[in-house]
Amino acid sequence: MIDPSIQQRYQSACQQASYNLLRHPQATMAEQLNQLAKEVAEDEQRDVYGSGQLIEDFEYQIAELLGKEAALFLPTGTLAQPLALKVHSLQTGKTDVALHPSSHLLLHEQMGIEHLWGLNPQAIGDPQQPIKPADLKALNAEPLGALLIELPMREIGGQLPAWDSLKEQSQWARENGIRRHLDGARLWQTPDFYQRGLDEISALFDSVYVSFYKDLGGISGAVLAADTKFIQQAKIWARRAGGNLISLYPEILAARRGLRENLPMMPDAVRYAHALGSALAELKGVEVTPDPPQAAMFHLTFAISRQRLADKISLYVQEQGVVILPLPRSGDSHRAVCEVTIGRNAMTQPQSFWLRHMKQFIATL
Ligand SMILES: Cc1ncc(COP(=O)(O)O)c(C=O)c1O
Repeated sequence: MIDPSIQQRYQSACQQASYNLLRHPQATMAEQLNQLAKEVAEDEQRDVYGSGQLIEDFEYQIAELLGKEAALFLPTGTLAQPLALKVHSLQTGKTDVALHPSSHLLLHEQMGIEHLWGLNPQAIGDPQQPIKPADLKALNAEPLGALLIELPMREIGGQLPAWDSLKEQSQWARENGIRRHLDGARLWQTPDFYQRGLDEISALFDSVYVSFYKDLGGISGAVLAADTKFIQQAKIWARRAGGNLISLYPEILAARRGLRENLPMMPDAVRYAHALGSALAELKGVEVTPDPPQAAMFHLTFAISRQRLADKISLYVQEQGVVILPLPRSGDSHRAVCEVTIGRNAMTQPQSFWLRHMKQFIATL
């Protein structure tokens, strides 16, 4: 846990800073609401309990993009994913789910997958690497109803399995009657690495979840895409779980705008991250994971305590007016890990600018 006074110092320094390496520029609430007001077409009506042209057209747009028959807009990924696994479980009659130890469902959802959804998660693979076909072949496939794969893998720097490995895993699951679910919270980052479209990547999975507020800069919200029968069942479970809201139009409008504005620049962000991460890997005093980066993100590890690194980062932002790093998201008394996500902010500057600042920052450690 980082000292709250450091967190406060960091946050106020970020507000004053002139340059930021991380993500997209963030509009104020007032600016965002104004943008959304302009996003509404004259004849558009608010959605009502999941019905109406606004929500249905958007669901159709995402289903098409992912090459699936149908889609369902939901308030969170924390609802969309265990719900998808529940539907798979009902259709297969099996409750076991294989997933990576770093999955959001195991680390950040208070084990709702078990407590709320009655499923039985099985962590598989090396915690620091993507799942491999050999990890799957070593399993007893019999009790498994579903396999969850995250692309890219956020907790390990946005790593991606090679295409052949992914195909082999998907094929193994299909041959064993195991449903394949994709945690695509940041799926938008992956086409450049695979040199394949979102639909071709999604075709390896029976159900796909995507998010709109991470890479795309929306407010919140998720879409679950799959075949029509699956989505019909998912709607029933969303209603049961309190995920069928009277209206979601602000989230849908922000998601639609984010998709239009930010999806086209994702390949540039991935290439920028690849080049910047490769150059940072040459520096002494910092380790880049993965090296080279595979998505529009990477992790930086420093051999210093989490608390001390947080203090040094806050000081640097305060003094230089440059947000060179976020506060470390993990670590201990002798190492600290920061997550860098590349968006339009970083790309306003040449890479030499960030390299110069990173060198200068490392010299302060
Ligand atoms: C990989 C991954 N899956 C799922 C989620 C859940 O998304 P939500 O915040 O919409 O519940 C997140 C959120 O950070 C995530 O990073």
